[in-house]
Amino acid sequence: MRAPDSAKQRADYLRQQIELHNRHYYQLDDPLISDAEYDQLLRELQQIEQDYPELVTQDSPTRRVGVAPLKLFAAVRHELPMLSLENAFSEQDVAAFDRRVRERVQLETVEYIAEPKLDGLAVSLIYERGRLVRAATRGDGHTGEDVTQNVRTIRDIPLKLAGEGYPERLEIRGEVFMPKKNFLALNDRARERGEKVFMNPRNAASGSLRQLDPKITAARRLGFFCYGHGIYPADRLPERQQELLAQFASWGLPVNREIEVVQGLAGCLDYYRRLLACRHDLPYEIDGVVYKVSRFSLQAKLGVGARAPRWAIAHKFPAEESTTRVTAITVQVGRTGALTPVACLEPVFIGGVTVTHATLHNVGEVHRKDIRIGDTVVIRRAGDVIPEIVKVILEKRPARTEIFTMPARCPVCGSDTISIPGEAAVRCSGGLFCPAQHKESIKHFASRKAMDIEGLGDKLIDQLLAKNFIRTVADLYRLSADELARPDRMGKKSADNLIQALERSKQTTLARFLYALGIRGVGEITAQTLASHFHTLENIKNADEKALQDVADIGPAIARSIFTFFRQPHNLEVIRQLLEAGVRWDEAPARVGSLPLRGRTFVITGSLSSMTREEAKAKLQTLGAKVTESISQSTDYLVVGAAPGSKLTKALEWGVEVIDEKKLLHLLDRSDTQTQQ
Ligand code: IVH
Repeated sequence: MRAPDSAKQRADYLRQQIELHNRHYYQLDDPLISDAEYDQLLRELQQIEQDYPELVTQDSPTRRVGVAPLKLFAAVRHELPMLSLENAFSEQDVAAFDRRVRERVQLETVEYIAEPKLDGLAVSLIYERGRLVRAATRGDGHTGEDVTQNVRTIRDIPLKLAGEGYPERLEIRGEVFMPKKNFLALNDRARERGEKVFMNPRNAASGSLRQLDPKITAARRLGFFCYGHGIYPADRLPERQQELLAQFASWGLPVNREIEVVQGLAGCLDYYRRLLACRHDLPYEIDGVVYKVSRFSLQAKLGVGARAPRWAIAHKFPAEESTTRVTAITVQVGRTGALTPVACLEPVFIGGVTVTHATLHNVGEVHRKDIRIGDTVVIRRAGDVIPEIVKVILEKRPARTEIFTMPARCPVCGSDTISIPGEAAVRCSGGLFCPAQHKESIKHFASRKAMDIEGLGDKLIDQLLAKNFIRTVADLYRLSADELARPDRMGKKSADNLIQALERSKQTTLARFLYALGIRGVGEITAQTLASHFHTLENIKNADEKALQDVADIGPAIARSIFTFFRQPHNLEVIRQLLEAGVRWDEAPARVGSLPLRGRTFVITGSLSSMTREEAKAKLQTLGAKVTESISQSTDYLVVGAAPGSKLTKALEWGVEVIDEKKLLHLLDRSDTQTQQ
């Protein structure tokens, strides 16, 4: 059947759109649409090309992987193309893939290796005589960018391979990514400075790796996992992917511990469900899982298609981005009085939950992204983080929209609002007179990362304040179960639970306590830095601004804020009352009972060069670790020396973390300093 004109027009339009989005995604790190919408465009084009093969063009985006690299870095021609992956969006898609594979290789069940699909960017690493000589991005799959200098700053990537037995020249392929924690901190800092924030960890990783100044890359703390090989001597390849990864691990290359060997379709789908359930607990972002036929001989039989191998498929998680409309913008007052604009949205289902609100962070962000009431926007939900508006779809902007302005008075207490020069936030000037600030400061004190008072949530705090049970956080520790459980207050059981949670929260750490106080500018990390620098509360209280500024990451503004906080008599009085009520921590962590490796099980295989296995065992044991002879699924770490045995293959099959001697020494070193603190 000849293709109708409408199909040709549609294919042309789709190609043009896909190229546009490729450019925004790969080159500008500034996508216009969500991944799901992009995938839809690509799938539609693929379908048309499948139905009418005469419409396929040589340069159709379905034949290519991305776009040509920016001109900033030297171009690198890949000796073997860096392929992409086909996507599966449903269990049926995976079943169809498995069927195709089984038919081609004539097997009843196929063994796969199942891996997390990391949301970062693919890189190729060339090692010659064990030394990292070149690192390149994927680019368009054929030509990438030479990012060797930047990759050298990534600590996970060995500059020199460990152990021995590696080929003279080899190419490792894997994913560079930005751990979620670093991503959030990077964006927080950018937001404080009024700079552009990255949309997701992948854009942040890509933006950080493609920096002309390697120092910037180094500061961004990127991570890396290897997942395959490029150029590699054929006679040195083991039989299966898992054995190759075991070799990589023994040379000090990081291999993801979630990787598992699974059997057939059922094994794949079971893996998918488990990973989907724990994706938010992983320290890095994943957008699906990848299944690969494990045997290299079968991979060769299956071969590769135009842009992806036939022996692998990516099974994508449901989209966590979607589009919806902003119906209103309201203002919330936080603990420090900061007024946060919040977008009210037409309810939209993203990644398993219905989203109705998205934070807009501050008025600067609303204006930078030019978000107006009535706009259609892309919403992103990452883990348990509050949903965010990624961008406005300008093409869908209605003729009449309303521009948001910050109110001149606090919407809760009516005090004047103030904007401090150099600060992004507009604040309510009411202080603790403002019921919103008062309540939020108590909520913060009780929160999980602060004093961790279980069960003391929003509603309960409202009740305690409304009934005049508490005024300051110190009053919390004066509550009694009997008083709380009187008629018309709360049930006996809830009252008992709260009192017990309060009692438990008293044993804390200096860092948590400092964080709980809610000193402006002292977040969780700064609180930890302060605690490990000064050791005692007395030292921090007595420190002058200069001494405070000597601490890494504390600048003049935060030093002043800390100094001023400890000069306010009412703050000192609340601290006194808290300590009197029994809030306590170990100023020097106890040695016994808090051994850093307590509860961890180690197995050692192969020979170590800096000590004997017995010595390593003794050292690990003094730090609280258990060292066993044989490996099992509950082993936490396998330490690999030279010439490791079959334990390594098992470790990889079971997802036991594999560490080399260098990492072991590092771990012993770090754990040792922890016990001495
Ligand atoms: S294998 C020929 N394994 O996904 C095989 N890729 O959509 C190609 N990715 O370019 C890569 N995690 O950037 C593979 N465990 C994994 C991966 C993975 C993430 C990325 C990689 C690739 C893209 C394809």
